[in-house]
Amino acid sequence: MQVSIIYDSVFGNTERIARAIGSAFAPQDVQIIKITAADPAQVSAADLLIVGSPTRGFKATPAINTFLAKIPAQGLKGIKTAAFDTRIAENDISNKLLRFLMKTFGYAAHPIATRLQKKGGTQVSAPEGFYVEDSRGPLKNREPERATEWAKSILSSGKFS
Ligand SMILES: Cc1cc2nc3c(=O)[nH]c(=O)nc-3n(C[C@H](O)[C@H](O)[C@H](O)COP(=O)(O)O)c2cc1C
Repeated sequence: MQVSIIYDSVFGNTERIARAIGSAFAPQDVQIIKITAADPAQVSAADLLIVGSPTRGFKATPAINTFLAKIPAQGLKGIKTAAFDTRIAENDISNKLLRFLMKTFGYAAHPIATRLQKKGGTQVSAPEGFYVEDSRGPLKNREPERATEWAKSILSSGKFS
């Protein structure tokens, strides 16, 4: 099975999560690719495609959105997909307006997951978010470990047999 994990990361937190996810799939063929090096035409080589982004302004980064837009229609047919983001927990935001906006507009993982499915992908896990302590990180305690567990749950879901 070939696993491609494509991520964007400004401060390094999402990259750490991408690597923690990747570690769950060893000894499978795992490619962890930063968005700047990702080629939308090559996603069809993967059996499982996982896409992750920091949440910025309630959504994925422009680079991730451009990448998703460039995947050809039905380009993910026959490919399993999953999405994740990094984000700030609502409860850690003291500003009431910002909390309301976060509740209303949400985070990056869900729209990524929807777009992957619209390109023909088969979702194998609900979109997941991993928490940072503040706007530039660091990751909250044990989030990389939780990311590895999330990835293991995808593997053991039986959707690959
Ligand atoms: C300009 C900016 C906008 C952000 N917008 C959001 C947001 O809408 N929701 C959220 O939960 N976190 C937001 N954050 C926090 C990011 O999610 C956090 O920087 C990210 O998880 C760090 O990942 P990275 O180190 O991979 O870039 C924002 C941070 C910045 C700097």
